[in-house]
Amino acid sequence: MKKPDSSFDLVFPENSGCDNTQINFYCGPCNLDEIYFAGDDSPYPSRLFVTDETIAKLDCMKDFVSKFKESRRGNDTLLVLGAGEKYKTIESVLKIVSTALDANYNRNCLFVAIGGGVICDMTGFAASMFKRGVDAEFVPTTLLADVDASIGGKTGCDFSSYKNMIGAFYPAKKIHMWPSFVNTLPENEFISGLAEAVKTAFLFSKEMCDLLKNNREKVLSRDEKILFKVISECAKAKASIVHEDFKEKGRRAFLNLGHTFGHALESVAGLGKVTHGEGVAWGMGRAIALSEKLGLCTKNFADDCKQILESYGYCTQKQHPAISDRDIDKIISAMHKDKKNSSSRGTKVILQSDWQNTIIREVSDQDIDSVLR
Ligand code: GLY
Repeated sequence: MKKPDSSFDLVFPENSGCDNTQINFYCGPCNLDEIYFAGDDSPYPSRLFVTDETIAKLDCMKDFVSKFKESRRGNDTLLVLGAGEKYKTIESVLKIVSTALDANYNRNCLFVAIGGGVICDMTGFAASMFKRGVDAEFVPTTLLADVDASIGGKTGCDFSSYKNMIGAFYPAKKIHMWPSFVNTLPENEFISGLAEAVKTAFLFSKEMCDLLKNNREKVLSRDEKILFKVISECAKAKASIVHEDFKEKGRRAFLNLGHTFGHALESVAGLGKVTHGEGVAWGMGRAIALSEKLGLCTKNFADDCKQILESYGYCTQKQHPAISDRDIDKIISAMHKDKKNSSSRGTKVILQSDWQNTIIREVSDQDIDSVLR
C-alpha cells in the first residue's frame, strides 16, 4: 500500500464515541489502486465505492473505474451517482444504502466516498445508517472538500429545499487527499472551494491571509506547492477546531463565518444557482460589513478583508447579482430557518473583530437589513 507523503491524525474529544481520523496527503496524480487494491491487507471483506458521473470520467480515474465490471470487482462495488448539489437528496443517500443491501454487505464493510462535499457528506450519512453504522473513508476531489467538507464528521443531505437539513456527526476513519485533483476542477468550483480556504485564513491564520494576499497569481494558477500548503494548513486548522468542539457547542460555529448569509443566498437564489463558496464569500463580506456597522472591527480591518475577497473575484456588494430587491425579506427569513440559528432572541451570526478574533452574536433583523439594502 502506498505511503502518504505527509499525514496527521484528527483526534476527537474523549467520550465523543469516535475514533481518530487519519488524514493522509499524497503528491502527484491520484492512484486509488495503490491505496485500495495493492496487496491483500484490507481489513474489510467488501467495500462500496461511491462517486459521481463527473469524477468517474476523469483521466486519473479511468483505470480504476474500468476495472469494475458491471459495477463489481471481486467483493467490491462501485456506485456512480449524478453529479452536483441537485443530487444531494435523501433518495441518493438511500440509493447508497440499497446498493450495499443488494450486494449483501454486512456491518464489516467499508463505504468509500470519492468526490466533493456532496458525495462525502452523503456517503458518510449512508455509512452512519447502514446496519447502524459501518466505517467510512473519503477521497476528496474538490478544494472545498479538501479544506472543509471532508474533515470533522458532518454528514447529511439537503431536504425540503434547505441545505444539509438532515444528517449525522459521523467522521471518516481515513481521508486520502491528493491536492492534484484540484487541477481537474472547473474554474467556478475551484473559486468556490477557495472561499472556504479564505474563510479559514480569516478565522485562524494571519499568515495564511498574507500568503493569499501576496500570492494571488500562484494561487489562481493552482501552483502545486502553494496549494499543498494552503490545503494542508487549512486541514490542520479545521482538525484542531473539531478536536476542541466536535459537536459544535462553541468555537466550531466560527467555521460558519459567512454561512448564515451564504446559505440564505443559496436557498433564495435556488439551490445550485450560486456555488456554495460564492455564497460563503458574499456572506463573509456581509458579516464583516455588519461587524464594522456594529462597531466591532475597524474600517481598516473590514477594508483588508474586502480587498482579499475582491482580489479573488468574490462579490462584496450588498446585493448579490443572483437576487433582487424583492428577495431581501426572503434572505432574512431563510437566515432564521438556518438550523444553526436556533435562538428566539435574534439571528445568530459569526462576526470578526480582527484576524483570528471571532465573535458569535445574536443580531436583529434591522441589523441584517442594514447590510443588505
Ligand atoms: N463546515 C463547517 C463545519 O464543518 O463545521
